[in-house]
Amino acid sequence: MSRSSIYDILPPWSSRIRPYPPGKPIEEVERELGRSAIKLASNENPLGPSPKAREAIQHYLNHIHFYLDGSGYYLRNELSELHDLLPNQIILGAGSTDLIELVAKTFLAGSADEAITSESAFYMYRLAIEDMGAGLVQTPMRDLTFDLAAIAQAVTACAKVIYLANPNNPTGTMFTADDLDRFFAAIPSRVLVVLDEAYFEYVRRADYSRSVDLVRAGKNLLVLRTFSKVYGLAGIRLGYGMGNPELVECLQRIRSPFNASSVAQVAGIAALGDAEHVAKSVESNSREMKFLTGELTLMGIHYTPSAGNFLLIDTSRDCEEDFIRLLHEGIIVRPMKLYGFPTSLRVTVGRHEENEQFLEALERVLAPQPKVQETGVRR
Ligand SMILES: Cc1ncc(COP(=O)(O)O)c(C=O)c1O
Repeated sequence: MSRSSIYDILPPWSSRIRPYPPGKPIEEVERELGRSAIKLASNENPLGPSPKAREAIQHYLNHIHFYLDGSGYYLRNELSELHDLLPNQIILGAGSTDLIELVAKTFLAGSADEAITSESAFYMYRLAIEDMGAGLVQTPMRDLTFDLAAIAQAVTACAKVIYLANPNNPTGTMFTADDLDRFFAAIPSRVLVVLDEAYFEYVRRADYSRSVDLVRAGKNLLVLRTFSKVYGLAGIRLGYGMGNPELVECLQRIRSPFNASSVAQVAGIAALGDAEHVAKSVESNSREMKFLTGELTLMGIHYTPSAGNFLLIDTSRDCEEDFIRLLHEGIIVRPMKLYGFPTSLRVTVGRHEENEQFLEALERVLAPQPKVQETGVRR
């Protein structure tokens, strides 16, 4: 009798999935290098967590033996007040990634279903769709930006969900509130739009977003926000979605009941009240984005202007090699081959001294290497 394999019971679509490659822990990179390293790889807040959130977590530590309030009562109330919505229009997640997956789990089970996103969009959309065995439709970008007209044209009778990132990671590009209005006018109302605004707080353009107005107007829309970026709480895993009550009710049915931990909820409430940390973080990002882009221009390195807290930099060289060389310099960035940019790196805007060190390291990495003398010895 032949030995059975666990792969025999794996759904066929699962074997085709390319999982999101995790970066190495910074501690391991530092151990290997024997020196400290700078992490500019995951678009975290370089100023650290909200001090108010940190304090709230410390106060809460004596209670972590209790199960949490699975409904997220207090945090959802806070969020509903902040956005002028009803509490039943808010759903919590273990980061917004959890909610990206929850949408797919709720609405996309079955190979006849399709979901649409853009090429070079945040990779989690693709994974969430493929995990459910649904059809993935990806339209090309236009000028490295989501082409909303192309996405609207790609809607078929099988299409159920559209994932949009604004701004998108890794391109940093955005579309405007008017663009989104036109998009909603062009798509059937039965199709659910997931609008991921993970970098919302960083965007400083007046024409950026009226997303919550669209939720209030009853559009078939889930707006996603996260505590991982400007609030500096990426490790604690907290995000939320805003939508109409029926949509939220459908998602609540499938949501894992304890997906947003007690510590995360407490931290989230405190972080919402920490306007000073948000303002400082946004101000630092704007200033440092200007510095970085100015220096890159002087160095003659191409970058895509970004509305977020990161930059897509095209060095015209193999990004995996540049990534390794920068790693040896103690700088951790992300190579972007996975996203279809084989000569680009994504770098998070750091603190001033971190950005300076990154630029110095990049200059060394990109400097022409001295030719090695031919010795005639063959190996
Ligand atoms: C566009 C976008 N959405 C969502 C996320 C994930 O955020 P979270 O930590 O809330 O899961 C990221 C993180 O990099 C992102 O870039």
